[in-house]
Amino acid sequence: MPDRPGSLSLGEQRMPALEHAARLVARAWLEFDEAREVETIPSPELLAMLDEPLPEQPGEVIRDLDLAADVLDASLAQSRPRYLAYIGSSGLEVGALADLLAHSYDINLALDARGATQLENRAIAWLAQFLGFPATAGSFTSGGTISNITALAAARERALPGSRATGMGDRRVALYCSAEAHYSVTRAAELLGIGKDNVRPVPIDVRRRMSTPDLARMIDADTAAGITPIAVVATAGTTLTGAVDPIDAIADVCELRGVWLHVDGAYGLPAAAAASTAPRFSGLDRVDSLSVDAHKWMFVPKACSALLVRRTADLAAAFSHNEDYIPHEDDELNAVDVTLEYSRPLRALKLWLALRVHGAQAFRDAIEGNLRQAQLLFDLATDHPDFETREHRPQLSIVPIRHAPPGCADLDRHNEALCRAMQHDGRVYISPAVIDDRIWLRPCFTNFRTTEEDVRVTLAVAAEIGSAICADH
Ligand SMILES: Cc1ncc(COP(=O)(O)O)c(C=O)c1O
Repeated sequence: MPDRPGSLSLGEQRMPALEHAARLVARAWLEFDEAREVETIPSPELLAMLDEPLPEQPGEVIRDLDLAADVLDASLAQSRPRYLAYIGSSGLEVGALADLLAHSYDINLALDARGATQLENRAIAWLAQFLGFPATAGSFTSGGTISNITALAAARERALPGSRATGMGDRRVALYCSAEAHYSVTRAAELLGIGKDNVRPVPIDVRRRMSTPDLARMIDADTAAGITPIAVVATAGTTLTGAVDPIDAIADVCELRGVWLHVDGAYGLPAAAAASTAPRFSGLDRVDSLSVDAHKWMFVPKACSALLVRRTADLAAAFSHNEDYIPHEDDELNAVDVTLEYSRPLRALKLWLALRVHGAQAFRDAIEGNLRQAQLLFDLATDHPDFETREHRPQLSIVPIRHAPPGCADLDRHNEALCRAMQHDGRVYISPAVIDDRIWLRPCFTNFRTTEEDVRVTLAVAAEIGSAICADH
């Protein structure tokens, strides 16, 4: 090994560190196979260690790896099978291996990175095929939030050509999405100068999907008033209840009026590849762009979202630049010409490797498994005398339930307290949600490790803790 003063190489500790890290990872994976009885919380010693000042002198890699693993062990890991809060993920094993490789090579996908660029393009093509969308381009981003803003930047430029250069001046604009769209759409409007007050919340139907007649009426009224529609965002799996907006009918409205249609499928879109839910997504092949988070329901570790578009030129029109320090070969677009970030890691590797190692069918099967778990929880809760469920069955894998034991006067306070108590109890981790001003428990199934037994335990734990705390208030 060359003698470099101040070298940051691990030197002779390289193999021992790698082998030790492998053991820690294997231990974690083994632990994730089954739910643990209770969650570990940070001990006072661990918290004290996390308060230490900046180390000036070298530590000891094996010991420090152990410390890092202790911190992770005392953290909320979405990989655990009974993490059912918000929209979780799974830290897919082969995805974690891909990340280790990708981070070791530390490739930057701003310009042509040779093999990695080809691999990213292939992963985009595979993802498009998996979902059933005729993409010509796309890129991997850090999340649904960034994928959505990327799509809407392209939509803005198409609706108002030149606006990226001149701004929107006194042009009045509007963006349309369901009243239950993810707030990243509002944030995109804020950042793109559209303005959050110009996001039109389209009313929802009884299944909490965007009402298409209302959408058409709102666009027509705006257009008549001289307001330019920038885009419609359909949500394919709302964060609150998993509702899938009627994409085909929305595409009819948009096509007739020449309005860009973006689908925010950050959570739900992988279910377009599952036979039992595919019909809910019909019309996906007609949209202009879509976002999907592989780090949610395609199980790979964060961060791995993708934005796919029908026409490459739309992205180039919004993002390409000619800078003296960014060479272009012939008329070839660089990756940075179709996306927002400049330094960009090879996020595609984990999806590419996962699809190669497991095959697409394994992903469809795992998604179907989560869909069945959602239906099972809905049925169990509906049949349970102390639980309320929604009027309609879950469209995807989010299942709002409410504990409503006899004699409990304030069900909102009770369910809020129940959710907190379950998080504290540690056997099952779920989050609450407010639906029509009422507080519900909102389990969401997006983990390939979750089993039907975990579903039964979830309801049993909610019933047990709910009954115990009901007596208290
Ligand atoms: C429908 C929807 N869109 C966008 C997002 C934001 O995705 P990210 O957290 O990857 O930025 C979420 C997150 O849950 C979501 O559910």
